[in-house]
Amino acid sequence: MSSSGVLQAGGNITVDGTALWTDILETARIGGTPKGGVRRLTLTEEDRQVRAWFAAACTALGCTVTHDSMGNQFARRPGRDATLPPITMGSHLDTQPTGGKFDGIVGVLGGLAVLRALHASGFETRHPIELINWTNEEGARFAPAMLASGVFAGVFTEQEALDKTDRDGIRFGDALAAIGYRGEAPCGDHPVAAYFELHIEQGPILEAEGKTIGIVTGVQGMRWYELTLTGRDSHAGTTPMTMRADALLAAARIIEAVSAVALAHGPNAVGTVGLLENRPNSRNVVPGEVFFSIDLRHPDDAVVAAMEADLRARIEQIVTDAGIGLEMARVWDSPAVHFDPACIASVRAATDSFGYPARDIVSGAGHDAAYMARVAPTTMVFVPCAGGLSHNEAESAEPGDVAAGANVLLRAVLDADIRLDA
Ligand code: GLV
Ligand code: MN
Ligand code: MN
Repeated sequence: MSSSGVLQAGGNITVDGTALWTDILETARIGGTPKGGVRRLTLTEEDRQVRAWFAAACTALGCTVTHDSMGNQFARRPGRDATLPPITMGSHLDTQPTGGKFDGIVGVLGGLAVLRALHASGFETRHPIELINWTNEEGARFAPAMLASGVFAGVFTEQEALDKTDRDGIRFGDALAAIGYRGEAPCGDHPVAAYFELHIEQGPILEAEGKTIGIVTGVQGMRWYELTLTGRDSHAGTTPMTMRADALLAAARIIEAVSAVALAHGPNAVGTVGLLENRPNSRNVVPGEVFFSIDLRHPDDAVVAAMEADLRARIEQIVTDAGIGLEMARVWDSPAVHFDPACIASVRAATDSFGYPARDIVSGAGHDAAYMARVAPTTMVFVPCAGGLSHNEAESAEPGDVAAGANVLLRAVLDADIRLDA
């Protein structure tokens, strides 16, 4: 494959960057926060509204919009050969509780910009082209992340996904039905020729190096854990320090250990405690129970395994010394992913055809592409974000970079359209 494929395939078509930026600002109003971010947790009223926006926008471009039994939305533009599986693009429209306007959204609306460019030019592809809005990529409300693309790829069963509960005990399946998106089409019964996902980098590398495009070669390994520490509720004024079973104090020591383990396996290891519930959470009660999460990541699965072993040993020591009960479960294991060389070559050729400054990069964040890589040739395109900041209401990206990413997405898709099933 060479860039000649890209130049043959609709080489003069480009996306409308202004319309793409307008879409980003318009959808950011759905769940928009006073600080300029977005709070659009999966399967909430805000999620329902943005799904309706997505369906209307795609329908206006002549696409047929459907959703499957996990609520994943598919907007399909027909190709010349209806017997071919679709070349797909996608990402997610759900956000973190204090999320930004770009994480996931750039991938979906960038795909919409591709559909708009094809529609405006009347260009006919061989394959159908599909844009996918995945349900619950973030994992912020229902753990783990990438839940519905995981069901699509056969990583999780649909039943286990439907039975996941949020921290208020609401079932995923019930929340999905409540917003009207429990579709009839079985999730995963949907052949795909290739999958391309555009995303902001969510880290500082592209911006620091003055690169417009990240050619993503893979995704690092990640594991999530849930821990419950059990001590004893007791009076803060009368219980001597030597007679306490303080679950929060033990949690604090474990949090320190998570950081120490990541630093010990550096420079590319990271470890985070992002969710913690302290009970009974009263200022004059020694905390008797703490629930919290741990997130460990590294590009090499062997290092992730070593981090887990190291951390488990430290945690055992901490709870034993403190006389605290421990329940610990690994609730997610997403191994490192290596993307498809031919799809990466399509992205590289597309990038070169525009002359955008670029570098290869491994994703530190999880993406639906990580699971799609199990069922179809897959890769991703990154664009810079300001200061590398993400999962933050101040998350920001430049309109020109976002448009460049969508242009690369467009040409990579058109290149794959020529290359695949030829
Ligand atoms: C998804 O946002 C992740 O946790 O990387
Ligand atoms: Mn994302
Ligand atoms: Mn995210």
